[in-house]
Amino acid sequence: MCTDEIDIELDDDFDYEWRKDYFESSQESFNDNIVETGFNFDINVPNQIVRFFNDRQKEQHYQNLQPVSKNDKFDWVVKKSKIATLKLNLKIPYTEMYNEANSLLSEFIIHRNKYEEGHKGWKSLVLHGSGKHYTLGADQYDDAPDYHWTDICDKCPITYDFIKNSLFIDSFERVRFMLLEPNGFICPHKDDDEHRLQTFNIALNHPEDCIMGMENYGIVPWKEGDVRMMNISVKHSVWNRSNKNRIHLIVHGGPSKKIYEQKFNKMVIDSYESLYDSIN
Ligand SMILES: [Fe+2]
Repeated sequence: MCTDEIDIELDDDFDYEWRKDYFESSQESFNDNIVETGFNFDINVPNQIVRFFNDRQKEQHYQNLQPVSKNDKFDWVVKKSKIATLKLNLKIPYTEMYNEANSLLSEFIIHRNKYEEGHKGWKSLVLHGSGKHYTLGADQYDDAPDYHWTDICDKCPITYDFIKNSLFIDSFERVRFMLLEPNGFICPHKDDDEHRLQTFNIALNHPEDCIMGMENYGIVPWKEGDVRMMNISVKHSVWNRSNKNRIHLIVHGGPSKKIYEQKFNKMVIDSYESLYDSIN
């Protein structure tokens, strides 16, 4: 099994179940993955990853979409619409943001490296958090500094401006660049128990052969520049089968002031209605 590149993210409500599955199967995982699959690959990956993505081939990402409720529209979209991701109606300078992140690759550190979960090639750099290399939540460290904008923001002004001014968010938790290297993978896991759309995941690029699967929701139809709200209580995994880095930006936070909340809620409702119209 791989050991030198193992790294881990451990969020507050992390699901430990898959770790047990992973280690029980790890001994036969890396050289015995010639299983029936539609995916072509020429590297050794855990059977757990291959099996997870095989199962996703039978599913659709969006199915049985319902029209938005007449009352409490925002609440309905984020908590009751039963979708796993919602692409927001936002245009972003993703090429410039990718170039900024790409120029900072030497600053990235291995993510979740204090646990042995089995991921490969997963790295991160923090823009808002306890420090540029505090890629986990503050509760995962002893005496972590209060969250703040790190000095990395000075080196990615377009990204920083986008985060501060385009998402209709004024209350920030962690904001991080997330890198998945060529042939890297993030093992299946979930990060929360609450079924709702919350975290923002933003594709600064997304190589064609990089796939993200979500249990019962198939393959996420990522395109570069997508800004998606995610239900991270759904088990998910990413497998970068390409020879390119995949760089996303993950933002935890939300609106607190009324003026932000109104614009934010409208954007979410309009985005859901756009999705519904596009599929029905
Ligand atoms: Fe996750």
